[in-house]
Amino acid sequence: MDQDALKREVGRAAVAQVKDGMVLGLGTGSTAEAFLHALSERVKDGLTVRGVPTSQRTAELCRTLGIALTDLEQDPVLDLAIDGADEIDPDLNLIKGGGGALLREKIVAAAAKDMLVIADGSKLVSTLGAFPLPVEIIPFGAAATLHAIEEVCASHGLTANASIRPNLATSQADSAPLITDGGHWIVDCKLGAIGDAAQLDSALRGVPGVVETGLFIAMASQALVAKDGAVEVIKP
Ligand code: A5P
Repeated sequence: MDQDALKREVGRAAVAQVKDGMVLGLGTGSTAEAFLHALSERVKDGLTVRGVPTSQRTAELCRTLGIALTDLEQDPVLDLAIDGADEIDPDLNLIKGGGGALLREKIVAAAAKDMLVIADGSKLVSTLGAFPLPVEIIPFGAAATLHAIEEVCASHGLTANASIRPNLATSQADSAPLITDGGHWIVDCKLGAIGDAAQLDSALRGVPGVVETGLFIAMASQALVAKDGAVEVIKP
């Protein structure tokens, strides 16, 4: 089964956990989008839900698919957030932010009573860190913040190889930074293997200029992982 088919399969499995009347957190990325397509089918059949999108991209897709939107002002507590991940460790700690939406994704996941992570099997890892860790930063003083991020990583025995994520929609020659929905930039840290992810997350969030990291520690309550022919349910 190809990866797109696995995403569709896990998207359908996630929709089975959505109950009528729920207020949802709606993730960002290709797996979350597969879920939204499956959700829209149930909405067409009469399911009533509303959701807080974690990005402009997700909001636009929901409008196209006819999924009702809300926000955290009207609905500060969500029943269930459903989102993808770049890496999932055995304790369901995650790296997220490959799609650049980590800040809103973390706010939405924190506002939800439960967070359901959906992925194909390629996202399961024994130790987080092979996927570059995204860290969202304020543009002001970016070079100093990047230096401080490298120092924090070094104090945890890690080489950050940090770089500001370019906006690939513009020409490479411009190498303008990607600007997030919140108006920030993203630093990608190629760390290799993160020993103590909780400690690194807290140290990085202590750097002035850092808005948030892509480490989601102890936030997921369940993961659905599609492998050939089956969807595995993982709980921490
Ligand atoms: C978006 O910022 C990310 O956190 C995504 O959830 C993550 O990158 C997974 O995306 P895919 O489902 O496209 O792999």
